[in-house]
Amino acid sequence: MVDRRLALACDLHFHRRNTSIGTPNSVTRQERTRYAHREGAGREEEMPMSRVVTFMGGTAGPWRVVRMDTITGLPLEMVDRLAALEGGHGVRPTDGKWLLQGITSNERYVVREEKQILVARQPPLGRPQATCAALIPIRKSAAWWNLTQDARRDIFETHSHHIEIGLEFLPAIARKLHHCRDLGEHEPFDFLTWFEYAPDHAEAFDRMVTKLRSTQEWTYVDREVDIRLVRGD
Ligand code: HEM
Repeated sequence: MVDRRLALACDLHFHRRNTSIGTPNSVTRQERTRYAHREGAGREEEMPMSRVVTFMGGTAGPWRVVRMDTITGLPLEMVDRLAALEGGHGVRPTDGKWLLQGITSNERYVVREEKQILVARQPPLGRPQATCAALIPIRKSAAWWNLTQDARRDIFETHSHHIEIGLEFLPAIARKLHHCRDLGEHEPFDFLTWFEYAPDHAEAFDRMVTKLRSTQEWTYVDREVDIRLVRGD
């Protein structure tokens, strides 16, 4: 359901109108491989909904890029616009410089009490007043993935207070977490995090991100790019 909201009607419109103008040469080798793979993968548009979301950076799409900061690790090529597309099979980038794909998955860390508060406070994506967005792709190091699940939870919440910090900023910020590791071993990021908020809350969003980046959890982040967006022209 949330995926469907993320793939705004205009995204799908854009997707359908541009399926034949693709230039695979304009995407990276890794993305080209995925492109070829997806090309014959089936008839996505006939499926009622998808857990896969494709973020396409290029010169088209409803979101205008206002800033792209490389926080850690390798940058992503600068782009002017971004489209968030439901699904991924048959996506043919027109001017796409890169494609990032993620999938909604089960929650790993949240406990029942936290879940209840989150459900009560978190707003949906697609609110008309939320004209600002952030796409923050993140990769964590091998050291993180080598930890046991309980050790990760300790770092994530007991020491870093990720959920506690995030909850302070609800319902101003709407969020959606996409996992990339479930799609394959060679994804450039582990997570694609997506946030939407009104311009009045842009400063609060910056404060939250700064707090999170100072935590123990973030010492395990080895690639992070912060892409800020506004809807429309
Ligand atoms: C809007 C406030 C926020 C809230 C309420 C929030 C809440 C959460 C929750 C509940 C999870 C755990 C999901 C699970 O159980 O698997 C999570 C995971 C995650 N969040 Fe946040 N978050 C917020 C902001 C952020 C921000 C600003 C970033 C990035 C800068 C971020 C990056 C992540 C990442 C990468 C994960 C996955 C961690 C992992 O599985 O190792 N979050 N968040």
